[in-house]
Amino acid sequence: MTAVTDSPARDVDPVQVHVPLGERAYDILVGRGLLAGAGQRIAALGARAAAVVTDDTVAALYAGPLDAALRGAGLRVSLVSVAPGEGSKSFGDLERVCDGILAARIERGDLVVALGGGVVGDLAGFAAAIVRRGLRFVQIPTTLLAQVDSSVGGKTGINSRHGKNLVGAFHQPSLVLADTAVLDTLPAREFRAGFAEVVKYGLIADAPFFDWCLEHWPEIQAGGPARDHAVAQSCRAKAKVVVADEREDGERALLNLGHTFGHAIERQVAYDSRRLVHGEGVAIGMALAFRFSAQLGLCSPEVAASVGTRLEALGMPTELACVPGGAGTPDELLAAMYQDKKVAGGELTFILARGIGQSFVAKGVPADNVRTFLEAESRGRSIRGG
Ligand SMILES: NC(=O)c1ccc[n+]([C@@H]2O[C@H](COP(=O)([O-])OP(=O)(O)OC[C@H]3O[C@@H](n4cnc5c(N)ncnc54)[C@H](O)[C@@H]3O)[C@@H](O)[C@H]2O)c1
Ligand SMILES: [Zn+2]
Repeated sequence: MTAVTDSPARDVDPVQVHVPLGERAYDILVGRGLLAGAGQRIAALGARAAAVVTDDTVAALYAGPLDAALRGAGLRVSLVSVAPGEGSKSFGDLERVCDGILAARIERGDLVVALGGGVVGDLAGFAAAIVRRGLRFVQIPTTLLAQVDSSVGGKTGINSRHGKNLVGAFHQPSLVLADTAVLDTLPAREFRAGFAEVVKYGLIADAPFFDWCLEHWPEIQAGGPARDHAVAQSCRAKAKVVVADEREDGERALLNLGHTFGHAIERQVAYDSRRLVHGEGVAIGMALAFRFSAQLGLCSPEVAASVGTRLEALGMPTELACVPGGAGTPDELLAAMYQDKKVAGGELTFILARGIGQSFVAKGVPADNVRTFLEAESRGRSIRGG
């Protein structure tokens, strides 16, 4: 990521996004340098102690500054760190984190603070949901994906041998502090993958925002004000859907645009992040969702092609053939889709689109249509010589 020369330590008027969920309402604050002022903001929630949960990579970069900020505000602080990566969303790590929180004598009035990417947020949030039958927690997301997606909405959990995110709870944070300066140290690949979730909000329901994302990508990478806007606008979009459908009974499924295909591809590569990270699967999945919509006569082939071209312009993969080692056969991908928890009663649910910003939930999509489409996509790959 491009180095930014000015000091990120100032906490200048963050953008505030309110998530109005009644007694579970909370604020998301977005801005450069929020970490330095985190102590005051967290102490203002009335806690006397904070258990910071993080991973070893993030700890080396940001646990020190956060610790100083919290202590500076008079809080008693303890730290629990797990190994970086998806493997830490496990029962073993959950036990360690819960014990760490209890050993730190975190009481009902105190706070768990999740400092890290989506892995830490999901794990720490779930621990907060179950220790002492529910502790308050604060999210300090440090990846772009976590700032625009996983830290907002209250889904927490870990993985089981039966699949990803199958054990968890809805538990809303009390506050989200998205310090956009910490993204300066995020590897470029992770940043771009997180950006797939940003443009997703445009593709779902906001065509002008999709255009804006394309135009401002260099500035967003460089860390200018456009980055803050991209994060805040994404949080607004996610918060709107979450408020309308907190427990994912309906409209919240729109957030899964690109994810039915994406999750199937992730399964095919056995969640090996060297081959594919989540946002890359989502980028391919979104391109596929538009081409599938075109094949079903829902949107024009020109629109579907333009979505693919524009995602490519952002450096994102858009085809099954982009997956190193291959994404599997159409039948393997279909089988993977049937194992996804979003399959209801043997029928497949897809998020399809009538155009950019015009996505909708399509239930009961026949498997035959999906297979025909995936076969065409796989043939396209060999025609193009990939
Ligand atoms: N709860 C939800 O609603 C929701 C939504 C989407 C995704 N998720 C979950 O999020 C997880 C993925 O999250 P992720 O993509 O943030 O992955 P991650 O948490 O594994 O972070 C990616 C990598 O970046 C490193 N890292 C984090 N912040 C950094 C920084 N500022 N500088 C340098 N390195 C940094 C981490 O150590 C890790 O190695 C998945 O488990 C997924 O299931 C949850
Ligand atoms: Zn996602």
